Parts: sequence; structure tokens; C-alpha cells
Amino acid sequence: MTTDEHLETVEDEDDYDPFQALDQAFGAGTVRDPYPKMGELRRKSPVYKGSIWAEFGMAPQEAGLLGDAPIYSALSYDAVTQVLRSGSSFSSSAYANTIGIVMGHSILEMDEPEHNTYRALIEQTFNKREMERWEADIITPTVNSFIDRFVDRGKADLVHEFTFPFPVHVITGMLGLPKEDLPKFHRWTVELINIPGDPARGMRASQKLHDYLVVVIDQRRKEPREDLISLLAHAELDGTRLNDEEICAFLRLLLPAGAETTYRSSGNLLCGLLTNPDQLNAVRDDRSLLPQAIEEALRWEPPLLSIMRSATEDTVVDGVPVPKGASIMVSVAAANHDESRWDDPETFNIFRKRFPHIVFGFGAHVCLGQHLARMETSIALNTLFDRCPNLRLDPEADEPQITGMIFRSPAKLPVLFG
Ligand code: HEM
Repeated sequence: MTTDEHLETVEDEDDYDPFQALDQAFGAGTVRDPYPKMGELRRKSPVYKGSIWAEFGMAPQEAGLLGDAPIYSALSYDAVTQVLRSGSSFSSSAYANTIGIVMGHSILEMDEPEHNTYRALIEQTFNKREMERWEADIITPTVNSFIDRFVDRGKADLVHEFTFPFPVHVITGMLGLPKEDLPKFHRWTVELINIPGDPARGMRASQKLHDYLVVVIDQRRKEPREDLISLLAHAELDGTRLNDEEICAFLRLLLPAGAETTYRSSGNLLCGLLTNPDQLNAVRDDRSLLPQAIEEALRWEPPLLSIMRSATEDTVVDGVPVPKGASIMVSVAAANHDESRWDDPETFNIFRKRFPHIVFGFGAHVCLGQHLARMETSIALNTLFDRCPNLRLDPEADEPQITGMIFRSPAKLPVLFG
């Protein structure tokens, strides 16, 4: 069956808006500033006994998916790094009962030594040659194609017209998926990650994405092209190869990882700069400041606030006893605002004394796409500054707000330029 024939069998979607549903379920528009409360909890204890999401009225179903295990939230920088560093005491298999239900058995939920085998195999496909090809053939043309659509207008909403669409087009190009199918698999991807908000729809989207991807994987096994799916289909390390289910699980992780996070982090960076025009001007006039602006925005407003682990033994985290079997919400957002590490952590300041943040995780599972995410953001901002001079917030529009509790980003960024 070809991809087109397969797609004909996929039922038409109803008028449900998965993007709005995800935003609602994940606290967009309702959770405005979680940092004062997080700070209050962290000052009482570096590890909070309870779910940090529940503190903001979020995702009761997710808690249900974790069964009866007691939930703890690691909030201090030291607690978060301790949990992520120690793969033997803190297992990633916690994901098997949550997002793993819809993604499948991906590297995200594997522990060592299985994780290392598959991560090393997959990492081969994210090599320097591919990164350079993605930069020249995919990222730069994609970024320019979206700016082309508004550059003559002198105004734009940078979220709807730029930061939202460009990363999903980049990942589509990297995977070699047909552009005309993008609306379908983008929708399934978003429905899939909204498993806390709508588990039944998430399961259906997972199956649809699976059925769609196995056809493409089969085609690329027979006729390889210059794309990531072909590389994954033919990758081999020490005699290990990826079967269809393993590639499918990885792709169901990669699509949201590539699309959702970079869209939100580039919106957060633009929001930080546009609401601080002195810093915006400094970066625009001296592009060597862009890398530190990117890192400060990631620290200040992480796009993804927490990750999961479960305790494999009784242990003590930053002085707090945590029992075997506990689920741990590892709050990279709270850790990035730890005042014992950063002065005035709530302020966006690209000139602050820099210490490494922890937004891409730490240890064996540290984000596989972190260099790609930085590259995409850097190309996006540089191209925007070059092509849209005198970029500024539209004074007629409302001040932009970053909101959300699981993901965070602004809903709109209305700007003028020229
Ligand atoms: C600003 C953007 C991004 C942020 C904040 C981010 C954050 C993270 C974090 C915190 C983890 C660790 C998860 C854990 O330990 O449980 C992770 C893992 C991962 N990320 Fe990213 N990510 C970003 C962009 C990307 C991109 C662009 C890709 C690929 C296209 C990607 C692919 C992955 C993959 C495959 C993993 C799993 C690694 C493993 O389990 O070994 N990420 N990411």
C-alpha cells in the first residue's frame, strides 16, 4: 500500500481543535506565573511531597495514570541534577505508564544498558554532516519561506505566522515526510501528547500516526532517500538494527519533541527581547550576544517545565527521604529559578552571570535535539532581524503573556517593523 492509498483509508477528522485542546489541558491562559508558588515550595523543601501540577489544578488524569505511587516533585537545582544523574536509583520507566502508552517503547522510557544501545544507534543519524545539510537545505529555506509571507506587510503575529509553523516544517523536512500530509500528522502529534487531557483521542492518534509511519518506513527500506527515516531504517551498530516498531516509537517521540518545544522556546525568547527593548537592540546590533540571549530565555522560561522519573530504591534527595516506588516530577523550571544559583531569577537578563541551566535535562537522557534547537532558534532570530528591521511590539496590541504549566509560551506576539 502506498502512503497516498493508506491516507485515503484514514477517516476525516471532526471540527475538534487539537491545538486549543492541548493548550487548555496544559494550563495555557490560566497558569500565568507559577514561579512565586514554586519558589515558596522550594524554600520550604527542595523536594515537595506531592505533585507540582496538582498545586496549579492540573492534569488529574495524569496522576491517575501513575496509579497509587506517592508523587514527589524535585524543585531545587541540586535535587533535580541528583535525580537525573543517578539512572540506577531513578528510572525513566515512569514514562511507560504515561506518554509511553501513546509513543511506544522509545529511548525516553528506557534504562541502561538498553537505553545506551538504542541512543548510540540513533545518535549516529544526528551527525555533523546531517546537521550541516539540515541547516542549509531545510532550516534556512523554511525560516525564509515564512518571513516571505509577511515581510512586505510591516506587521505580523510572530507566533501564528512564524514560531508556531517553522519548527514542524523543519522536522517534516528532516524526516522526509510529504509536506501535503503535514496538517494530518501535526494534528495527530498534538492529540497524542494531550493524553492527560483526552486519553481516548490520544490513543486513536497514536494508532493513526503508527499506521501512517509504517508505510513510509517500508517505502524507505525499499528505496532509501536522503532523509532521517531512511537513515534510521538502515542504521546499524554492533549488529543491532531498528525494527519498524522501534523506529515508529522514536518518530512518535521525535515529532512532538521537534515541533512543540522549539516553537515555544523561540516564542519565549522573542517575548523576553520584545518586552525588554534595550536588550533587543543590544542583540540586534551585536549578534555575538545571541547565544547568551538564547540560553537566558531557556533558563527564564523553559518551554517544557518538568520531566518524570520513578525511584527504584529508598533514597535521599537533597536531604529529603524518597521511598522506593515513588513517582518524581523533576521540575527543570523550578530548578532554573533556584535563587541559590541565580540572583533575581524571575528577571530576563541576557547580561547576567552565566551558569549552565538544566532545561535540556541532564545525564544519559539529555536532550538529543539540543544543538538542533539552538541552531533553529539562532537562524530564526538572525534572519528575522536581517529582514524585519526595527522589530518592535505593536503598541496597539495587548502586552504579550507567557502562560502554561506543562508547556509555556506566549499565545500571540503582535509586532511592527520597518
Ligand atoms: C528548546 C527545545 C527543547 C527542549 C527544552 C527539550 C527538552 C528535553 C528534555 C528536558 C529532555 C530529557 C527528557 C528526560 O530526561 O526525561 C529531552 C529529551 C529528548 N529530546 Fe529534547 N528538547 C528540545 C528540543 C528537541 C528537539 C528539536 C529534538 C529533536 C528534533 C529533541 C529530541 C529529544 C529526544 C529524542 C529526547 C530523548 C533523549 C533520550 O531519552 O535519550 N528535543 N528534551
